[in-house]
Amino acid sequence: MSRLDTHRGRVLLTGGAGYIGSHCCVALMQEGYQPVILDNFANARRDVPDRIALAANGPAPQVIEADIRDRTVMETVLAEGGFDAVMHFAGLKSVAESVAHPERYFDINLGGLTVLVAAMAATDTRRLIFSSSATVYDARATGGAISEDAPLGPASPYGHSKLLAEKVLLAQAEADPSWRVGILRYFNPAGAHGTGHIGEEPADPPDNLMPYIAQVASGRRARLQVFGDDYDTPDGTGVRDYIHVADLARGHVASLAALERDGRGHVVNLGTGRGQSVLEMRAAYARVSGREVSFEIRPRRPGDVAQCYCDATRARAVLGFEARHGIDEMCASSWSWTRRREGLA
Ligand SMILES: NC(=O)c1ccc[n+]([C@@H]2O[C@H](COP(=O)([O-])OP(=O)(O)OC[C@H]3O[C@@H](n4cnc5c(N)ncnc54)[C@H](O)[C@@H]3O)[C@@H](O)[C@H]2O)c1
Repeated sequence: MSRLDTHRGRVLLTGGAGYIGSHCCVALMQEGYQPVILDNFANARRDVPDRIALAANGPAPQVIEADIRDRTVMETVLAEGGFDAVMHFAGLKSVAESVAHPERYFDINLGGLTVLVAAMAATDTRRLIFSSSATVYDARATGGAISEDAPLGPASPYGHSKLLAEKVLLAQAEADPSWRVGILRYFNPAGAHGTGHIGEEPADPPDNLMPYIAQVASGRRARLQVFGDDYDTPDGTGVRDYIHVADLARGHVASLAALERDGRGHVVNLGTGRGQSVLEMRAAYARVSGREVSFEIRPRRPGDVAQCYCDATRARAVLGFEARHGIDEMCASSWSWTRRREGLA
């Protein structure tokens, strides 16, 4: 019997049609869970559930089209769904957009979360895994690897919305010890599913490095702009901790298992514990794709730091989690997704 035939818990995935949620959906299906997606499709294509089925080699997951800010709908979904846990991915994620439109970020990332928490409390659903972010840390105050105890200090409304959401969840868990909350602080998710069926739908222009490089490799953009080559790093360009989205998905399954097993919550970094520079990523992508990836050096951007990578010790200790994939696999999976998406040979 395959894991797809076994029946573990039912899990509601808010934002489950998005980049990270769709990969977690596949991972949960393959571990025998029954994921149900709730999404308003503000940033996801309608055919994602069918593509999840192809990636998982299983049935398409159930989908509920709804907005997390709709308290009545959320209560009904939770009251009728019989969910053992919620994974909360729904939200906005662009640092730049959050600077221009902070109200959107507080409305969805914070307001949406408080509606979800109230609906969960009203329906006795008390296990939650939350998509937080390394942007909650004060990266300037931290020289090397960032542990979960590093100083907090977001530099954008996006980061503030994530930190405030964490505080709401920690207060809820403190007020009612029957709550089990897993807060996962992602570093830089990258790559796509190995089948090439699901991946990231980047903004235009992309906010993140890998989709940008992918578009240069595919010919959609002329060259990569590298912001700053005079940082105190081995090649002068910014260093970040890129984690394969498939590893990130495994981290969520491990987080859920820990909540089921340990009877208490956790706040954990999800990264590899290693940093890669912009130019290293560019070179790896060019090598793996066999494409030219031209670049130009531009001035540093305000607010960027030289390096940001995680201390992955707690993820190992608490979740038994360790990232398995390196940057070549991130680049290769991103490239097969990009080729399929852009209709390239
Ligand atoms: N991708 C990253 O680099 C990154 C890094 C750290 C944290 N995160 C966080 O992880 C989560 C998932 O990120 P992602 O990269 O998968 O983003 P995504 O945009 O691909 O997925 C988010 C999903 O939420 C849905 N959504 C948005 N607003 C909604 C609403 N009001 N009601 C219902 N659904 C709604 C969107 O349609 C989309 O499918 C987000 O909370 C994000 O802030 C992402």
